[in-house]
Amino acid sequence: MKYSELYQDSINHKEAFWAKQATAINWLKHPTNTLSVNEKGFYQWFTDGELNMSALCLDDHIAAGRGNEVALIYDSPVTLIVQHFTYNELTHLVSKFAGGLTKLGITKGDTVVIYMPMIPQAVIAMLACARIGAIHSVVFGGFAPHELAMRIDDAKPKAIVTASYGLEVDKVIHYKHLVDKAIDEANHKPSYTILYRRTNGNDTINHANEIDFETLINQSEPVNFVAVEATHPLYILYTSGTTGTPKGIVRDTGGYATALKFSMTHFYNAKESDVFWAASDVGWVVGHSYIVYGPLLNGCATVLYEGKPVKTPDSGGFWRVIEQHKVNLMFTAPTAIRAIKKEDDEGIILKQYDLSSLRTLFLAGERLDPATFSWIKNLLQKPVIDHWWQTESGWPMIGIMMGVEQFEAKSGSAGLPVCGYDIQILSEEGEKLGPNQEGFVTIQLPLPPGCLPTLWNNDERFRKGYLEHFLGYYLTGDGGYKDEDGYFYIMGRIDDVINVAGHRLSTGEMEELIAAHPSVAECAVLGIADELRGQRPIALVVIKDGIECIEEILENELVALIREKIGAVAVFKNAVVVKRLPKTRSGKILRKTIRHIADGLAYNIPSTIEYPESLTEIELKLSSRKLGNAFQ
Ligand code: COA
Ligand code: AMP
Repeated sequence: MKYSELYQDSINHKEAFWAKQATAINWLKHPTNTLSVNEKGFYQWFTDGELNMSALCLDDHIAAGRGNEVALIYDSPVTLIVQHFTYNELTHLVSKFAGGLTKLGITKGDTVVIYMPMIPQAVIAMLACARIGAIHSVVFGGFAPHELAMRIDDAKPKAIVTASYGLEVDKVIHYKHLVDKAIDEANHKPSYTILYRRTNGNDTINHANEIDFETLINQSEPVNFVAVEATHPLYILYTSGTTGTPKGIVRDTGGYATALKFSMTHFYNAKESDVFWAASDVGWVVGHSYIVYGPLLNGCATVLYEGKPVKTPDSGGFWRVIEQHKVNLMFTAPTAIRAIKKEDDEGIILKQYDLSSLRTLFLAGERLDPATFSWIKNLLQKPVIDHWWQTESGWPMIGIMMGVEQFEAKSGSAGLPVCGYDIQILSEEGEKLGPNQEGFVTIQLPLPPGCLPTLWNNDERFRKGYLEHFLGYYLTGDGGYKDEDGYFYIMGRIDDVINVAGHRLSTGEMEELIAAHPSVAECAVLGIADELRGQRPIALVVIKDGIECIEEILENELVALIREKIGAVAVFKNAVVVKRLPKTRSGKILRKTIRHIADGLAYNIPSTIEYPESLTEIELKLSSRKLGNAFQ
C-alpha cells in the first residue's frame, strides 16, 4: 500500500486501523474494545485487552524457536567489554531478577526507580519490572541527586535499582553515592536499594535495606510473567516541563506495544533478526522505545552502547560498532554527528570502516540542520532520515515511513506525518494555517496508541498543559509549518523548554533555582545557539537592591548551583548581570524578545513594554560577552 493511502486510512478509520495493527502482537486476552473515553474524559486504547510486555519481548521469541538468537549486544568501549545475550539467556536473568523483586514484596502496580549507567543490568531491571507488572521509572544518570530526589518523591518507589558507578569517557560517576544523597534529600524513602556492584567498584552493602543485585538474582527462583490490562502503566518517564517540577509521562502497555511494533516494521523497516542500534541512553524515551522495548518486541538484536560518539576512543567509535556488530539500522541525535564531524570533517576515519550492513541512519532529538544532514548523507551514501517525536508520544510522529514507501528526505524538514497522527498547524486563535505559515504544531485528538494517556498523579496538569490550549487538539510545545507538499518543518519549542545536545531541559526550572540565590532579584534563562549541542542555556540576572556583588563571582556560584542541582548535562556556563529585564506593564518578562536579540533576529518592541532601555543594555552586554548567535 502507498504511504498516502495507509496514512489516510489511519486517520479516517482510526479504530479499524489500530484494531488491525494490534493483531501483530501476541495478547494474552485479545481486546475487543479498541478506543474509548474514560471517566476523566481521556482517550484509552484496547481497554479490555491483557498482555505482558516482557513476554512479548522475550518469551514469545523463545516459543517461536528463536531462543538461541542474540537479543542484546552490550558494547562498552569504556570498559573494553563486549557481551552477547541470547533470548534464552536474557529471559533467564530477567525472570530471576523478577523473582528477586517478588521476594522483596514488589508486586503489580508498585513503582521501582532505576538509576543506572548503560549496562545490561539496567535492561534486565526494566524487563523484570514489566514481567511482574511493577511500574519502572528510569532516571537518566546525568541528572544530579536533587533531580533524582524530586522523581523519587513523585513516583514513591518501593525500591531503587542502581550500580556502583558509570563511566563518562574517563570520569567516574559514583551512582551509589548520588543515590544515597538523593534518598537523604527525598521525603519518600524507598524500602530497598538494589546495587549492582561493578568491577573495581569497592562498594559495600551497608544497611539491611541494601541488596546486592547479583546475589538477588542468584538466590531467586525465576518467575513467570503476569497478565496486565492494556491500560496498566508500563512505566513513568519524567521529562522537563515549563516549571521546576518534572512531569511524569505515563506509558500504558497495550497501546504502546501495538505502536512500537507498528513503528518497528512500518517506520524503521526493521526485520526480525536485524541488528538495531539506538545510540542513546536508557534514561531517555529513545532508550525505552528503541534500545529496549521496540527492538526486542520485533525480535531484533539490540545494541547497548556504553560509549560516546567521540573520545571512546575516537570519532570512529560509531562506525566501529556498526562494522563489528553488523548493525542494520541506526538511530542517534544530530549533535552526535556534529561531534564526529568536528573531529573527522573529511570522513577519513569513517571511510576506514565497512558500513555495508547499514541500511538507514535515523536522527532525532533535535532539529537536523541541513549542514549536518548533507555532510553525513554524502559520506554514508545511504538514506538519512530525520524524524520528530517526544517523550510524550513515545514513538515517531513525523518522518519518512521507511517500511511503507521510501520517499526522498527533504533537507531541513522532519518529513511527513506518521500514520495515526493528524498534525495541524494552528494560529494563536486556533485557526488551521495553510502551507508555509508558521504556528503551533498540534495533533487532532485522539492521539494514536502509545502516546501518554495522562501524567502520573496529575490529570489536571495533563489537561491544562496539553489539552486546554486548543480544544480538541494536543499541544506539542513545538512551533513549525508545513510546505505545499505536506512536509513538516519543526522550528523549535515555543515554551520554556530547550534542547541541549539532545537532552531536554527546562529553562523555567533553571530560573527557579537561580532566583532562589540570595543575591538575585530576578532572572531570565534562555537558550542560545551552540555549534555542537544545538542550544545551551544562559541567564540574565538582576541583582537585589543594596547587594554588592562581583559579576564573575556570582556567575561562578550560579554555574556551580545549576551543576549541583540539575547536573553537568545542563551545560550552564554563563550568567550576565543586567540592571533590568524587559517586561510588559503586567510584569511578564519579554523572553521571546530577549531570544530574538541573542539570535540577531528582527523583533518588534511591544507597545506595552515597561523598560525599553533594558533591550539596549541586553544587546550591549551579550555583544561584549560574545554570547548568542548574533554576537559570536
Ligand atoms: N552521567 C553523568 N554525566 C554526564 C552524563 C551521564 N550520563 N552525560 C553527560 N554528562 C556530563 C558530561 O560528562 C559533561 O560533563 P563536564 O561538564 O564535566 O565535562 C556534561 O555532562 C555535558 O555533557 P555533554 O553535553 O554530553 O557534552 P560532552 O562534551 O560530554 O559530549 C556529545 C558531547 C555531543 C558527544 C554528547 O552530548 C552526545 O553524545 N550527545 C548525544 C546525546 C544523545 O544521544 N541524546 C539522546 C537523544 S536521542
Ligand atoms: P524529548 O521529549 O526529550 O524527546 O524532546 C522532545 C523535543 O525535542 C520535541 O518537542 C522537539 O522540540 C525536539 N525534537 C525532537 N526531535 C526533533 C526533530 N527531529 N526535529 C526538531 N525537533 C525535535
